[in-house]
Amino acid sequence: MANDRLHNVESMLNQVNITKLQKRMRTQFIGKTMFFSRKVSSTNDRAKQLAVQGVPAGTVVIAATQTHGRGRLDRKWISPVGGLWFSVILKPEGSVSKISHLTFVTSLAVAECLKDLYGLKVETKWPNDVLVKGRKICGILGETSSTEEKATFVILGVGVNVNFDTEKTFPEPIRLTTTSVEKELGHKVKLETLLKALLEKFERTLGLCLNQGFKSVLSEWKKYAFFLGNEVEVVDRISTISGTASDIAEDGALVLRSKDGSLRHIFAGDLFLRISENPR
Ligand code: BTN
Repeated sequence: MANDRLHNVESMLNQVNITKLQKRMRTQFIGKTMFFSRKVSSTNDRAKQLAVQGVPAGTVVIAATQTHGRGRLDRKWISPVGGLWFSVILKPEGSVSKISHLTFVTSLAVAECLKDLYGLKVETKWPNDVLVKGRKICGILGETSSTEEKATFVILGVGVNVNFDTEKTFPEPIRLTTTSVEKELGHKVKLETLLKALLEKFERTLGLCLNQGFKSVLSEWKKYAFFLGNEVEVVDRISTISGTASDIAEDGALVLRSKDGSLRHIFAGDLFLRISENPR
């Protein structure tokens, strides 16, 4: 089984195949430069090092496994062989420079790819998760390195649970709140095909944001946001706020309606559906 997994990843994502993948990929700038490692601490950290060294915007850093994968709010991100762990380096300007906008662009691209390629019934969850049947299948970590007001570069780290069974691989409690492509489909898929589709879709969605504005991205994203209109709790390090998830504002904030009808804009935290047993 372990050998099988290793074989899959190595044969699909080795240096040679990355060259082939680049030839087949229909993108203008995303993935024109790619780095693949069998093992890194975190693709976001490796991408930051490379960005400082001056690699071009659109560079993609992929790893078969991460020893210190990171999630939002400094959480550990378990990254076994069989997942798709990668980071994209951007040097955004103007209207797409907001990191929150870019994370919405990314989660929309992931959601649409998983739906189009595998027919999965995907959901987007604020701030930037992708779920299937209420369980997390993908997380996105946007990080920026900035001088004063201006971001010099943005790293978008994407983790998709693909060719492993989350219930067998992850410890409790996260094995109960996560899923993977393999778990949903009952078989493994080609990581290379998913990566190609994701990067192409990402570039197109980025283009939509640039040409038609973040509003267009948000209105697509909201089509998958089934939590909207529901009673939710948003938990951050110091407090829990409840209300109805009424909208996503144009700056990416969650708009929460309290019982008295007042609206609050929430910028960070974890969202839980109040009626659900599972954290969403
Ligand atoms: C989250 O949901 O908390 C975000 C998870 C992001 C995980 C990805 S995997 C590739 C990249 N490298 C990291 O260390 N994290 C991101």
